[in-house]
Order: sequence, then structure tokens, then C-alpha cells
Amino acid sequence: MPILVTGATGTVGGSLVRQLVAAGHRVRALTRDPGSPAAAELPQQVEVVRGDFARPETLIPAFRGVERMHLVAMDGYGPLTTAPEILDLARRAGVRRVTHLGHDDPSRDDDDPLESESRAVKKAVEDSGLEWTHLFPGEFMANTWEWAESIKNEGVVRAPFGDWTSAMVHEADIAAVAMAALLHDGHAGRTYTPTGPEPVRRADAVRMIGRAIGREIRFVELTPDQAREHWKDVYPEIVIEWFLEMGEHPDMNAPVLPDVEQVTGRPGRTFARWAADHADDFR
Ligand SMILES: NC(=O)c1ccc[n+]([C@@H]2O[C@H](COP(=O)([O-])OP(=O)(O)OC[C@H]3O[C@@H](n4cnc5c(N)ncnc54)[C@H](OP(=O)(O)O)[C@@H]3O)[C@@H](O)[C@H]2O)c1
Repeated sequence: MPILVTGATGTVGGSLVRQLVAAGHRVRALTRDPGSPAAAELPQQVEVVRGDFARPETLIPAFRGVERMHLVAMDGYGPLTTAPEILDLARRAGVRRVTHLGHDDPSRDDDDPLESESRAVKKAVEDSGLEWTHLFPGEFMANTWEWAESIKNEGVVRAPFGDWTSAMVHEADIAAVAMAALLHDGHAGRTYTPTGPEPVRRADAVRMIGRAIGREIRFVELTPDQAREHWKDVYPEIVIEWFLEMGEHPDMNAPVLPDVEQVTGRPGRTFARWAADHADDFR
């Protein structure tokens, strides 16, 4: 039976697909556009199917013959408001187990607009009647891809809060936790928070990318107002304000949690490793 991976053309889903295929599993990958360059990069053994969370009925063919699925709670930056319908269709089609990749910040109130959307998906997953496992990772190492163009073109990173310290996590470790929860018993009803194995200062992350590509990179620290301007065409305003608010608490993402090692049996990959794995993206 194939395992259905949604978000398969994305950062975590792509890694999950490759790890499942490498371990000999049949994978069905969901995308809104099977003709996209990202879909073309999926391993050739993978069955690629079209579907759009915004129109849950389009997922029915993807669920056929599937018992296990990975759900990325994502509809652009908008809420995955259709999660209850998606999960209901999945259950009725025979899906039994779901890993849910999303976001949860327990320090924020229920009525916070970003949190209320995520919590609605979380509740839909828990009410779905499926065996569920939540994955609420820390900050992705892959977020530093945002710096790729300015590193390639100018050897510079412009970002606020050089002292921001985060136990950023490699996408392959999030995917490895999802894979364990999909393949093995004992993860139902669990919530995992994959983090990296060490806290990394933002300015040090820049240096580590420089080391991986053999080039010195200059870090230019932006003020919050400069960051608003810098990000205005990249992120919605609500997300920018959330980033800036987090920046006022430079250690809030620093704690290293044991979940990756406990679930996979291996320590998480370091940022230096991530930079080496993705060095070509910054050259
Ligand atoms: N970045 C972080 O630091 C961070 C931290 C904690 C949690 N998270 C969570 O991680 C998740 C994002 O994971 P990611 O970075 O691996 O994703 P990503 O690289 O941004 O890729 C998004 C994926 O979602 C799919 N997708 C988007 N809208 C869709 C729709 N309407 N219907 C079907 N598929 C759709 C896309 O597929 P197609 O384009 O091929 O259709 C793509 O494969 C989010 O839930 C986020 O809250 C992120």
C-alpha cells in the first residue's frame, strides 16, 4: 500500500518522500501541479497525484488504497480551513494513521490570529478518528534559504537580531520523526517538537554558511523598521510582526528538546551539516 505524502514538493515532505523511497516504501505524492519543476524532482518511483486542499474533493483519488498519510497543514500562508473535510474524506476512504506537520506556540493565546488557525487544525486532527501524531518543530534551518540570493549576488546577509539564538532543525530530522510515526506503532496521540541538537546564533549561522561555501559573508544587522521594509514583499504583515515580536526574546527558541533523538535513535543534524548539505544553493 502506498503512503500518501502531502507537501511532497516542499521542504519536509520532499525529504520524507526521499527517505521513504530509500527505505523501499511505496510513496504517493500530492501536489497542486504535477507539471511543476518541484514535482519533476520527485524520485521517479513516486506516484504523483494532483489535489488541492482548498477543494477537499480533489483529494479523493489520492486517498484510494492508502492507510497512512502525512499532512502538511499548509495552504500558502492562509489557514488550512478545510482540515476537517480533508480528514473526514481520508477516514472514509480507509486512511487509519496521520502525521500532522504544523505549528503550535503554547505561549500564545487562543485568540492570536496565527495561533487560532493552527489550533483549529490541531483540533480537527485530534477529532478525526485517525491515529494521529502532531509534529510541531522548532524553527527550520531551511528558513535561511531566504538569504541565498543576497549571498550569491553580494556575499551579504541582511536580517534583524544577529543575537537571535535558535535550536534550528534540519528538515531531514523532522521527516525522520514523521517516518518513524508513520511506519511504527507507539506514536499515536503523541506530540513531537523536533529541534536541532544545539542553539545557533543567527550571526553564527551566516558564518557557517560562509564556511560551507568557502567564502566570507558579511552580516548586516537590520533595525526592526528596516526588516519590515526588507520583508514587505516576502511575508504577510502579520507574519513579519510575529517575527519581530519573537526577536525581542532572543533565547525563546534556544532550548534543545530530545524528541529527534528519542524517536529516531540518532542525534539531530547540526547547522554546519545543513549548510554543507545545501552549500550549492548559496553558491
Ligand atoms: N518554517 C518554519 O520554521 C516552521 C516551523 C514550525 C512549523 N512549520 C510548519 O511547517 C509546515 C511547512 O512545511 P514545509 O516548509 O516543508 O512546506 P513548504 O516547503 O513551504 O511547502 C509547502 C507544501 O505544501 C503544499 N501545499 C501548499 N498549499 C497547498 C494546497 N492548497 N493543496 C495541496 N498542497 C498544498 C505545496 O505543494 P504544491 O505547491 O506542490 O501544491 C508544498 O509541497 C507548515 O505547516 C508550517 O506551519 C514551519
